[in-house]
Amino acid sequence: MIEELKRRAGEKAAEYVKDGMVVGLGTGSTVKYTILKLGEMVKDGLDIIGIPTSIATEKLAREVGIKLGDINDYDVIDITIDGADEVDRELNLIKGGGGALLREKMIAHASKYEVIVVDERKVKEFLGAFPLPVEVVKFGYRRTMRVLESLGCEAKLRMKEGNIYITDNENYIVDCKFGVIKSPAELEREIDNIPGVVEIGLFINLVNEVIIGKKEGIEIMKKRSNPL
Ligand code: A5P
Repeated sequence: MIEELKRRAGEKAAEYVKDGMVVGLGTGSTVKYTILKLGEMVKDGLDIIGIPTSIATEKLAREVGIKLGDINDYDVIDITIDGADEVDRELNLIKGGGGALLREKMIAHASKYEVIVVDERKVKEFLGAFPLPVEVVKFGYRRTMRVLESLGCEAKLRMKEGNIYITDNENYIVDCKFGVIKSPAELEREIDNIPGVVEIGLFINLVNEVIIGKKEGIEIMKKRSNPL
């Protein structure tokens, strides 16, 4: 069933992509459905350039025939579609469960419109039940972890099959269990001030729209428009 909810959200987002667009392609098992759908649309004549957020997405996008570009050549990306690990009602996110947070954040920052696709389990009142991924440089990582812990979390170095997990950018990931994060923007600033931290999986004010795959169908959350 969860797979069906992911597919619903992922495929819906593909409808936003139009001819001639430069499209940021996110990472993960939900946006995979967007990429597969875009592959079909490309076969039917859609002309787009994809900017992948990870090596895994680059591979998938190539396999389904999406033309790819380099972020260095595009100051502005028309739309990016990506997944998330947690979403709150302000459209703030925790990302990085798949380890791609740095490229995902750079591409979100370059995007005119950022769309997030999730299944309904990911929507939370507060962020923080999901341990916050923080990408750190290898040099001094144990000290960086202690500094992270001084902010009130339990910090765990990410492992994969018995080895330290290495990101696409040759860094490590520290998963930080904070529990409820009441002020995500403040926490992002505090972590950002730690030397050795490359990027943080908090995405604040970067998202325009969230598409939620639910049992009853689809819910869309949009950035509240300015009432003035
Ligand atoms: C990748 O680093 C993450 O930010 C993903 O976007 C996130 O983990 C969502 O992935 P799923 O759709 O597989 O849950």
